[in-house]
Amino acid sequence: MKNIVLFASGGGSNAEKIMEYFGKKDEFNVVGLFTNNPNAGAINRAKSYNVPVFVFNREELNGDFVLKNVQNLNPDVIVLAGFLWKFPSNIIAQYPDRVVNIHPALLPKYGGKGMYGIHVHTAVLENKEEETGITIHYVNDNYDEGNIIFQATVKVSDCTSPQEVASRVLALEHEHFPRVIEEFLSK
Ligand code: GAR
Repeated sequence: MKNIVLFASGGGSNAEKIMEYFGKKDEFNVVGLFTNNPNAGAINRAKSYNVPVFVFNREELNGDFVLKNVQNLNPDVIVLAGFLWKFPSNIIAQYPDRVVNIHPALLPKYGGKGMYGIHVHTAVLENKEEETGITIHYVNDNYDEGNIIFQATVKVSDCTSPQEVASRVLALEHEHFPRVIEEFLSK
């Protein structure tokens, strides 16, 4: 059995796709969803899949509280599915090459501090990019700089709003993220 721990900050549509996908597979178990946001849509989505939820604040993330609770769940992978705070070094140190993030652009373009969610898509549109995409990558101590595991692209030259870019990118995330995690765990 491979254990998957999720971190999410917002709506949680990627987290839901992951819970749905692995809910149908006996060899994989989503064992917990951690969030910094008590109002995250991800919370109700996790409850509907009977996945235990852990809500934490910044001190709990950067201290021992989150690390201890993660360790209790014995994860094979920690998946950041729309997690918007910096991921702490103490957890990365315990799980080297086991923390994976999804970024809504083609890194190394449009990465770094402040580049998340709609900000990314606004910048892509302002720069009149022909295409954008998704990047699934390892998490290290620098925002969006870990080695790349997978990328996929989507054409956005005809998009007229950041929301339109966002919805194409999100569809690409939903299509690929669960499968890439499965491949990662099956290595
Ligand atoms: C996703 O598009 C994800 O790539 C992005 O937040 C969105 C979360 O959507 N993550 C980042 O920007 C991280 N830097 P969701 O809550 O519906 O899964």
